[in-house]
Parts: sequence; structure tokens; C-alpha cells
Amino acid sequence: MKYTFVANWKMNMLIDQALAFCIDNKQALETISHEYNIILCPSFISLPHIANALKNSKTKIGAQDCSAHTHGAYTGEISAQSLAQVGVTYCIIGHSERRTYWGETDEIIAAKAKQLYTSQIMPIICIGETLQKYKNKQTIETLKKQLMPIISLIQTQAVSELTIAYEPVWAIGTGVTPAPDNLEKIFDWLYHHITTSISYSLSVQLLYGGSVVRTTASEFKKIKKINGFLIGGASTNFKSFASIITEP
Ligand code: PGA
Repeated sequence: MKYTFVANWKMNMLIDQALAFCIDNKQALETISHEYNIILCPSFISLPHIANALKNSKTKIGAQDCSAHTHGAYTGEISAQSLAQVGVTYCIIGHSERRTYWGETDEIIAAKAKQLYTSQIMPIICIGETLQKYKNKQTIETLKKQLMPIISLIQTQAVSELTIAYEPVWAIGTGVTPAPDNLEKIFDWLYHHITTSISYSLSVQLLYGGSVVRTTASEFKKIKKINGFLIGGASTNFKSFASIITEP
């Protein structure tokens, strides 16, 4: 399984900025994409432009969200099927910003995962505890609850791969990250919990997200069960994104 690096650009890049990132660094992106699984997640409206700029490239394109419904009267929503039509092969769902600002529940997130799997798009499912839950030592309890509907879905879907991004809410955009030994325990638990809860064997990819920069990445790359990173702020600048990927 290739190590994965996901760039979550959130609403930080305009269409021309996202496009310039891809065009200006096309060759370098191509080179790193041979060795690593690189997924760029721009805003919805940038997706067709980016897809065009990266045509025939190994660099993959992801969306930041999708609708929980197949089609119909859902003003403003974007279906998984239409994302697939523009060349999207990954999609972030359940990001803490969507859980907090749009009130997305674990059940809604599982419904989105179902839509994505049906459209042959790999969901990148975000989970993570708030600062309060962390302080109350309720991390595992929170993750277990967030994973429950996803595990039930996977049990009935027979999928070949599951990608989970563990992002402690208190680490997102704060410059604060978990202690490596604590993180290692959480990832060991995650892997064990997922693989023992699902009755068939599938490939489980676990990513870490939250204030990832070059230094934290090189520290966390030593954790065996981490297969990659979901990167926000530091992914909007190619140099810092590339250094996270290529430096040990
Ligand atoms: P950050 O964001 O790297 O800026 O902390 C990560 C995320 O929200 O996915």
C-alpha cells in the first residue's frame, strides 16, 4: 500500500490559485506521485479545472464533501455520481468542520460513504475527538461511536478498502499535536478495532491529520499503523507540501 498524502485546501484557494498550484508544479507532482499516493482536494468549483490540468497524471483528485443522497430536490448539493463524472476518485467526508458547522451526524457521514462507494469513489472518513472529550479521556469512546455506522455499512457492502483519517479536533489548525506515544496507541487501537469488527478482510488505510508540517510528519512517520497524512494549511504551499512528502 502506497503512503498517502491528502491536501485538504478547504476554502483557502480560489480557482486560479488552485489551478496555478497544479500547473506550476505539474512535473514535480508527477514525480512524487510515482512513489506516493497524492490526492489534491480543491473546492467543488475548482474540480473540473484541476482535473483538466492533471489529465493523464498520476496525481489524484478528491472532493471535500458530497451529498448523502443519490439525486433529487437537494438544492446546493453535489452528488457522488457527478463528482465521479469530473474524475474525482477520492472524497473527504465527516471533516470536523462539517460536523461542527453543518451538524453532520455519524449516520449522515455513513450515508455519504455509501454514495461514494457506489460511485467507485474512495471515501476518506474523518473522525476525532474534541478538546473536551480529550481532556475527559473519552477519545476511544468517541472514535468507537463515530465508527459504528461506518462499520455497519462496510459489513453489508463488501468493500475492498477503507480509509480513515484520525484528526483530533484540538489539533486542527492549532499547531498543537498529540504526543507520538499516545498517537501510536490510538492507531494500534483503531487498526485492531476496525479489523476485528469487520468479518471479512479488507485493506485498512489509516491517516493522521491535524497541524501536520514537515517536523510533525517526520516524527509521525515512525508510527507503524499510520499510512499517510491529511494536510490542511501546509498543503496550500507546494514547497511545504512537498517537504512533508519527501523528507524523512
Ligand atoms: P491543518 O488541517 O493541517 O491545517 O491542521 C487539517 C485538516 O483540517 O484536515
